Amino acid sequence: MSDSMIKDDQDTEYQEYDESYNAILEGVWGEGFLSPGGPEEVDSILEGLDLTDYTILDIGCGLGGADFHIAQSYKIKQITGIDIADNLVNHCKQTAIAKNLADNTSFLTVKPGPLPFDEGAMDIVFSKDSIIHIADKHSLAKDIYRVLRPGGWFAASDWLASHDGPPSSEMIAYEEAEGLDFGLAGHDTYEHALQEAGFQNIEFNNRNGWYRNQAREERSNLAGPLYEELKEKTGSAFVDQLIDIWDKMIIVLDRGELCPTHLRAQRPL
Ligand SMILES: C[S@@+](CC[C@H](N)C(=O)[O-])C[C@H]1O[C@@H](n2cnc3c(N)ncnc32)[C@H](O)[C@@H]1O
Repeated sequence: MSDSMIKDDQDTEYQEYDESYNAILEGVWGEGFLSPGGPEEVDSILEGLDLTDYTILDIGCGLGGADFHIAQSYKIKQITGIDIADNLVNHCKQTAIAKNLADNTSFLTVKPGPLPFDEGAMDIVFSKDSIIHIADKHSLAKDIYRVLRPGGWFAASDWLASHDGPPSSEMIAYEEAEGLDFGLAGHDTYEHALQEAGFQNIEFNNRNGWYRNQAREERSNLAGPLYEELKEKTGSAFVDQLIDIWDKMIIVLDRGELCPTHLRAQRPL
């Protein structure tokens, strides 16, 4: 990964996911999650993999919901969550102690750049909806391949575009509303990046059909039962802004242009 992947001021704490934004996302998506689907989605991403005694890396752990679920539900050896946001990593460390999971979870703040792990150190590299923030998918795929042991799996979900051409005006409106540093890329970019890195058994599962419905429910909750509670935490202007983001997101989901996708690939033995 190169330093240019993330628009991150190296001298200041990374603040894209600030407390208000996290409170809203967690309110919509459940405790510990800054992405949709919760523990069920995590299980679905990992379906069929036996994690017993495995050492796992989670790229972009956020508030650690996936890491704690994996540590509690699978007989893993260790999961390490990395994130570029110090506030999120500190939150994860405190939660690990509170949940009595500090023995088989660890959390690390990283700078955008090469993964700080040795070649072959991981049995699984997991990630949930974070790679969208990393622009250079090819460098990242090579680095994931490097830290996996031969036979190890990359198992992730991410937000993909349906194509690698210029985004539609609707997609531009959605990305502008989000205001995040998206490095949205299409299926072909991911597939090429994984192939070029040397992966085999590459699989994609487009989850657009599932999330189109889910996003409508989330939007109804935001404008309905959750509204007052979130307003108390963040103010009504912020909740209204989030509802606007959801409206714009539903448009690009309905166009089939935004594709939450499960990704799977294996480093050959
Ligand atoms: C949408 S959130 C998902 C968080 C978590 N995986 C979840 O599902 O709740 C994306 C996360 O990726 C992190 N992130 C962005 N760029 C990163 C990078 N280069 N390396 C590691 N984490 C990164 C962000 O700080 C944020 O916590």
